[in-house]
Amino acid sequence: MLEAYVTQFLEAFRPLAFPAGFGFDAFSREDVIAYLSDEAQWNFRFNKISGRGILYGVCHTEVRRSLLNGLDAEARMSIMDRKFKHFKVLPKLHLLLDDESLHVQDVLDIGMGDSVYRVDLVGDSGEVSSVVIKQEEWPSHSFFSQVLRIMGFSVHHAGHVIDDRGCWEISSYLGSDTAQRVLLGRDASDDFSSLLDQLAAQAALGDVFGRGDRHFENYLFYQEQLYPIDVSFLFWEGNEGWVWKYIAGGMMEMSALSIFSDQPEVLKAAKQRFFDVYLKTLASIQVCESKLVQCIEQYFGLKDPDTRRKVEYVRSRLLDVPGYFLAQKKIYEEAFEVMLARRVQKLRLQELVSASPDILNQNAWLKMYYLADRDRLSTFYLLEDHPEIQF
Ligand SMILES: Nc1ncnc2c1ncn2[C@@H]1O[C@H](COP(=O)(O)OP(=O)(O)OP(=O)(O)O)[C@@H](O)[C@H]1O
Ligand SMILES: [Mg+2]
Repeated sequence: MLEAYVTQFLEAFRPLAFPAGFGFDAFSREDVIAYLSDEAQWNFRFNKISGRGILYGVCHTEVRRSLLNGLDAEARMSIMDRKFKHFKVLPKLHLLLDDESLHVQDVLDIGMGDSVYRVDLVGDSGEVSSVVIKQEEWPSHSFFSQVLRIMGFSVHHAGHVIDDRGCWEISSYLGSDTAQRVLLGRDASDDFSSLLDQLAAQAALGDVFGRGDRHFENYLFYQEQLYPIDVSFLFWEGNEGWVWKYIAGGMMEMSALSIFSDQPEVLKAAKQRFFDVYLKTLASIQVCESKLVQCIEQYFGLKDPDTRRKVEYVRSRLLDVPGYFLAQKKIYEEAFEVMLARRVQKLRLQELVSASPDILNQNAWLKMYYLADRDRLSTFYLLEDHPEIQF
């Protein structure tokens, strides 16, 4: 029975894999069995080499998640029970949520590239609450939550825990609406101004703090509030260069405005508004500068030599707000134009594939981009590194 389930899973992933040597292989039967049977294996992640610019698609994620989520609840719980015991999950949740009566009702994998678990808990009160737990080495999110609080932005993060079983990020579950999902599911009559304003504000904050990887699956939109998640890179030197790459690749806050690409007047107004909010947010960050600096110093400690650099990172971006704004605006606008041109290429690729699907088997990079950009706003992220890709 389980063997047939595993075979079915392997078959579902196979068409999404790439030729040997590309760096993104299908799962093997051994990979799957190891995850399902070894309680000490927390993560079921892609066989993908990182650092090579290899991207996965929503389709890869859906199949990956289906290994756990497709099991019936009893089988899923028996697998996760053993993992949770091994990794001492429940004691962490009891401590953090201050309720010893909580027990696990269900667990689902909601991660993209890695296993991130949504845990449904029920306690003496009988009320079900859900939290999210993932392995995370760096406590960046804890720190960034303090920044969000100082700025008066919404915060959902519960805590970063380090114990003898690893490092953990725990947060309250905020529903399934990533910014990506909301933007793609948009109806012509929807008013997205609140989401777009909050994206612009997060863009300014992200730039001042050198936050990377701000793509649309790393933002959740819950009860009209935008929450950054997966905060990993902060104070990243040269982050402005990455901002260009991400916007051009359709994967950063301003790229959201491409939903108006067919309405030039609306797009123009939306850009104006985006930059107004961006500039206003820079000014608010400047007002909070001393509190933010204090927060960096307290969190990372003055003994750590890197704390000075972090403080300088933020200060240097607030020294001349109008100047920084203009420099960023230039990067944003240039990259956005590149994104619009790539959207046309994306449509062209979709047409080519509809006409002759086999072209994807002739070029692994084309297949990668085709799958990575499907069901997303993204547009050939890092295409600038591939001058050989012509179609
Ligand atoms: N608190 C939360 N509430 C609801 N959904 C969440 C929450 N945290 C994460 N998610 C969902 O899980 C997905 C993956 O989480 P996250 O971005 O933290 O890790 P990841 O992208 O899989 O990890 P990595 O970047 O290490 O591969 C998110 O895109 C989001 O859909
Ligand atoms: Mg993520």
